[in-house]
Amino acid sequence: MSGITVIEHSVEKAQPLPFPPGMGGHDLLSIHDLSPKEVEFILNLGRQVKAHPGRYAHTLEGKELALLFEEPNLCTHVTFESAMTEAGGKCVAVGPQEVGLGKREAVKDVALNLPRSVDIVMARAFSHESLSELAEHASIPVINGLSDFEHPCQALGDYMTLLEHKEHLAGLTLAFVGDGNNVAHSLIYGATRLGVRIKVATPPGHEPSAAVVAEARFEGGDVYLTDDPGEAVAGADAVYTDVWTSMDQKAEAEARASVFRPYQVNAALMKNAKPDAVFMHCLPARRGQEVTDEVIDSVHSIVYDQADNRLHVEKAILLSLLS
Ligand code: NVA
Repeated sequence: MSGITVIEHSVEKAQPLPFPPGMGGHDLLSIHDLSPKEVEFILNLGRQVKAHPGRYAHTLEGKELALLFEEPNLCTHVTFESAMTEAGGKCVAVGPQEVGLGKREAVKDVALNLPRSVDIVMARAFSHESLSELAEHASIPVINGLSDFEHPCQALGDYMTLLEHKEHLAGLTLAFVGDGNNVAHSLIYGATRLGVRIKVATPPGHEPSAAVVAEARFEGGDVYLTDDPGEAVAGADAVYTDVWTSMDQKAEAEARASVFRPYQVNAALMKNAKPDAVFMHCLPARRGQEVTDEVIDSVHSIVYDQADNRLHVEKAILLSLLS
């Protein structure tokens, strides 16, 4: 794929973007669910809502979002709730005690019950399978707010942030160093849709899903896998890492810490990247593990811009799926 140049001028357009036909009512479980045009649209709309915060202040009046968390969370909760209320809608948040998809209550029952009260659901679920089952049975859109397989809202906010900093996306090289897990999967699918080259360095046995890599390559994605972090970072425009122990892997923390130690993003590793390379992280970070203070606190770090843009891109997602 030659890649897409996200349209810069749309940020300045006087009129709101027309909502793309076909996105309304759909789920967002994976970046793979989105066409390149839809990814481009969401990034542009995210930039518009950021530049013109008042423009959509009443668009979602009368709509209600349910936020389901199987794991406690700060950023996703705050950004989704702010996004929905700033667009005129309402939220109801439900924590780990009450959710328990497939454990406390059958997923199908949750899926048939929620649409009686709300218009859209965002779920942070341990299992992507449960999320897919929820989406299959729910008559309203379901958004993946992080599963063990993908983190699509994060990746969309990340590419919006990269676009802001580099002013284009097609042709950039993103190096991902660490665990080839949920965040890496969404970044790979996103890179494929945006013409970004992605180089992924993981310890052997922690590579991204072979199915994701095969799908991305089949779609024309430039996905390079290695076990050498220096090789992945060489010449990169952006260096990204994620925690070594994800939400469903707490019992493996000690073993993982020793396997992943050579994959720490520190100043020595960053020297391999382009001099103006940015550092990215989905947060929360384990300082001193996957990233050192000197890198995350450096002028090259754009991690708080990423966190900020979660709100704007999530507002764009809500507007698109509820249009
Ligand atoms: N891989 C991490 C991402 C957190 C945003 C996890 O699953 O916990």
